Amino acid sequence: MHNVSTHSPMQRLALFASGSGSNAQKIAEYFSSHSHIEVTLILTNNLKAGVLERASTLGIPAVVFNRAQFYESEEVIELLKKHKIDWVILAGFLWLVPQSLIKAFPRRIINIHPALLPAYGGKGMYGMKVHEAIVAAGEKFSGITIHLIDEEYDKGEMVFQAKCSVEPGDTAADVAHKVQLLEHEHFPRVIEKLVSERKV
Ligand code: GAR
Repeated sequence: MHNVSTHSPMQRLALFASGSGSNAQKIAEYFSSHSHIEVTLILTNNLKAGVLERASTLGIPAVVFNRAQFYESEEVIELLKKHKIDWVILAGFLWLVPQSLIKAFPRRIINIHPALLPAYGGKGMYGMKVHEAIVAAGEKFSGITIHLIDEEYDKGEMVFQAKCSVEPGDTAADVAHKVQLLEHEHFPRVIEKLVSERKV
């Protein structure tokens, strides 16, 4: 029978994470009983990633893929299609996204970067390396950037930024902590806003 429901369909998110996965967890918790957004799948390139343990605790299916599967086949895209994924969320995902995936999800891949782009972005700038560079340069501020993924890394349309101060004497770990608080506070809400505005 044709579905004539007036309710908007669930928007299904796939979260990609390479490490601890604290952002993935916050996002999954935020949407755990949401009216129109759900976290359907968690994917990682790293068999030892902490995010796998978190996925299991959250009861969300998790998938590990390797370099060849990601870059030399369509396996990951096929999997996302099979699960009817609407949005791809990069929550601490450290591999470059192939063009085929960007084409399969145009303007539907959201990344978080732990600095105020365009500064401290680009190749090699991820995780603690960003915070170490910020401290080494004596910056007075850092923060987070949430942006859409375009063909060039860290260069897509910027959606949201939030700032934190870097005090004299702050270590890279101190900055990482301040940035992480901002990420946990804002990332789920920014995803909610984007997905809600652009759902079809
Ligand atoms: C986050 O700080 C995220 O911004 C960063 O990796 C961390 C993952 O933490 N992403 C990048 O550096 C991407 N260029 P988590 O695994 O605890 O969520």
